[in-house]
Amino acid sequence: MCLELMNSLVAAVLTVCALVSSVHCASESIAWCYHLPSCNDNTWPTISPQYCNGNQQSPINIVPASAKFNANLTDFTFKNFNSISALESIKNTGKTVKVTFGSGVQVSGGDLSEAYDSLQFHLHWGNGSSVPGSEHTVDGKRYPMELHIVNVKASYNGNTTQAVADSKGLAALGFFIEEMSGTATGQPASWKTLTSYLTNIKDKDDSVSIASGISLDDLLDGVNRSRYYRYLGSLTTPACNEAVVWTVFKEPIKVSKDLIDLFSTTMYVTNSSSPLMTNVFRKIQPEQPVTESAGSSIRSASTAWYSLGLMALSLALGRKW
Ligand SMILES: *[C@@H]1O[C@H](CO)[C@@H](O)[C@H](O)[C@H]1NC(C)=O
Ligand SMILES: *[C@@H]1O[C@H](CO)[C@@H](O)[C@H](O)[C@H]1NC(C)=O
Ligand SMILES: *[C@@H]1O[C@H](CO)[C@@H](O)[C@H](O)[C@H]1NC(C)=O
Ligand SMILES: *[C@@H]1O[C@H](CO)[C@@H](O)[C@H](O)[C@H]1NC(C)=O
Ligand SMILES: *[C@@H]1O[C@H](CO)[C@@H](O)[C@H](O)[C@H]1NC(C)=O
Ligand SMILES: [Zn+2]
Repeated sequence: MCLELMNSLVAAVLTVCALVSSVHCASESIAWCYHLPSCNDNTWPTISPQYCNGNQQSPINIVPASAKFNANLTDFTFKNFNSISALESIKNTGKTVKVTFGSGVQVSGGDLSEAYDSLQFHLHWGNGSSVPGSEHTVDGKRYPMELHIVNVKASYNGNTTQAVADSKGLAALGFFIEEMSGTATGQPASWKTLTSYLTNIKDKDDSVSIASGISLDDLLDGVNRSRYYRYLGSLTTPACNEAVVWTVFKEPIKVSKDLIDLFSTTMYVTNSSSPLMTNVFRKIQPEQPVTESAGSSIRSASTAWYSLGLMALSLALGRKW
């Protein structure tokens, strides 16, 4: 019993560390990593067993053909995503690049049970644009990068211990990042600005403040946020708490190759004596039921009519749709 209590305390501390700034995280004790066989994701179920070997783990491969349409998955309301001063600081955590938000950024709607406070986003990547490193995959396709916006139920007032004890305490918004076609460099401008900070945070625990000027909307430009997948899963890093309502947007953010490449060529796991940060993503976990929002798939009118025809046929045959 004592051991169990200890484990849950450690899990809570680690989760808080992952979510909140590291000021409170001197006690981080489970040394997990991506790059060494002794602490990479193969070991997480062993070194962080309370949740990492659970049965509702993330990330997953999404199979669009198996995703069930859910009319409740309506549009979100994004509060202060248009603020050009909401992005406060950017940090090398040794595992990712994390951008922390000021207060007042929120997401609601989209069949979330209440408003969720948006705390931070961070990124997952492979090794440049040619070795993809998104966490989720779609029909087995892995994108170059994935951006995660982490949100916590507003009613917990920032108490992440309570949030991770609730199977829907956190809401994660996942955005794929794809290489922009053509030969453009330094595009889009918002990503050029964001990545310009990377040279100031090459080493672990380096952190700098972000000048006002770019908004979340700027960074998410070009993505139709009405079109998304939904499933219930976990944090993708230890302690892997199964407390996350996942939203994965179908359309990728398009960023030029030179900017994508900066992540795997600039950021060190600790410092210039250590490896560069590459392949910072967890491997695919067992499938979960996935639903999709209204109008998620772009279909031609004829395909839509064909589906309606099939539906009518199956109704006529008395099949449960
Ligand atoms: C949609 O929401 C309604 C009302 O909360 C609920 O009864 C229904 O089961 C939901 N539908 C799906 C497909 O989840
Ligand atoms: C990443 O790519 C670079 C350039 O192609 C290569 O030198 C390096 O070994 C790769 N790193 C890993 C971890 O695969
Ligand atoms: C968070 O909630 C837990 C459980 O209700 C409580 O024990 C703890 O004191 C709270 N933490 C903070 C920082 O308020
Ligand atoms: C890198 O970090 C290690 C371990 O903290 C330290 O011993 C070493 O001096 C650092 N090297 C440089 C070049 O900063
Ligand atoms: C976004 O997708 C929805 C659903 O497919 C569609 O109705 C809407 O027109 C799209 N919006 C834009 C700006 O393309
Ligand atoms: Zn993540």
